[in-house]
Amino acid sequence: MIIQPRTRGFICITTHPEGTAKNVHNQIEYIKSKNISAEGPKKVLVIGASTGFGLSSRITAAFGYNAATIGVFFEKPAAPRKPGTAGWYNTAAFEKEASEAGLYAKSINGDAFSDEIKQQTIDLIKKDLGQVDLVVYSLASPRRTHPKTGIAYSSVLKPIGEPFTNKTVDFHTASVTDITIEPIESQEDIDNTIAVMGGEDWKFWMEDLKAAGVLAEGVKTVAYSYIGPELTHRIYKDGTIGMAKNDLEKTVPAINELLADLNGVSYVSVNKALVTQSSSAIPVVPLYVSLLYKVMKDKGIHEGTIEQMQRLFEERLYTADGQVPLDENGRIRIDDLEMREDVQKEVDDLWKVVTSENINEISDIEGYRNEFFQLFGFNYDEIDYEAEADELVSVPSIS
Ligand code: NAD
Ligand code: NA
Repeated sequence: MIIQPRTRGFICITTHPEGTAKNVHNQIEYIKSKNISAEGPKKVLVIGASTGFGLSSRITAAFGYNAATIGVFFEKPAAPRKPGTAGWYNTAAFEKEASEAGLYAKSINGDAFSDEIKQQTIDLIKKDLGQVDLVVYSLASPRRTHPKTGIAYSSVLKPIGEPFTNKTVDFHTASVTDITIEPIESQEDIDNTIAVMGGEDWKFWMEDLKAAGVLAEGVKTVAYSYIGPELTHRIYKDGTIGMAKNDLEKTVPAINELLADLNGVSYVSVNKALVTQSSSAIPVVPLYVSLLYKVMKDKGIHEGTIEQMQRLFEERLYTADGQVPLDENGRIRIDDLEMREDVQKEVDDLWKVVTSENINEISDIEGYRNEFFQLFGFNYDEIDYEAEADELVSVPSIS
């Protein structure tokens, strides 16, 4: 079978196993090239480990610090003549390279919000690792079934208050238009989004892991957030998703209290805006990201998820002097380059003038589209996408 990209809405519904393996391999090579020598994590649990920041966190822990890793995620396995999801192939490729490097890596595919998957993870830690010293929480999901009540919540991406009108781009066609996003109808929209993307599940994980005795002395845990510039605030920071991120931040003191007797500590890390499956679904954001990419590439300070995670581990979580640099609100900031005044000034100037006519010159929309398709294993020069990929589709496996 020949596998070509096929899109439905913003999503790519096909994946190429060889290309996703290439994506993982490139990230591993990047981390190895950093020759990290400082002490770091040794036994790591990554929740949301198959794509985006979670995958890059796992790669950084394993190939930067020789850590044993357990990854939890929700992906569709490959079947004969039916490609699996990108995250499934990413994990198969990661595990293969980890095993060749002599690194422990096992994965659990299921609903991380459930009690059952938490228990399976605890059992695996007990059996193979005893305890973990780092827990990365990197879930991005539109839905959560609450494990105690069985209620199914769906998150929404809406502004609060007035309708929000701004520019947006369809990155497949590079057409720039105005979009008006209707605000929430009631408090319920906010509550539902908090239930899915807020801090409760992170806290549940840490409570269960602690109660089972599988957290090591001095354990660290980190969850990811985003703030971004003024021009996306109405849809992000001040919108429903931002309220969920505020809730995530508010969970930090509660988890710190839980971990106090282990000398453990929890952090929220504010990361950079990037092309991932989740962020491409947010209106306005892809246009901002394609202008941001242009400006940051021109300045030589562009980063993808792996560059971000390398800095998070080496320059924030595991520094030589053991100090973790935080902002005035107690958060880790690796969005520092994105938020630099000169960067934001230039993006702002471009935002005012960008249209369908000039977008190809003044933005990196092509880089955006390229990275998007690379998430699914496409657009790699080295790969022949006309070739039969049958052999590859169902061969990889995960442990
Ligand atoms: P992603 O979609 O690439 O990854 C999400 C991960 O969660 C995948 O591994 C997926 O399998 C897993 N997952 C989803 N639902 C699950 C479930 N029910 N059970 C188990 N696993 C499940 O997303 P991402 O962009 O890497 O986002 C990760 C975090 O980083 C999120 O908190 C997001 O808000 C944050 N963040 C993203 C950006 C960005 O620009 N993409 C910027 C800053 C912060
Ligand atoms: Na992730």
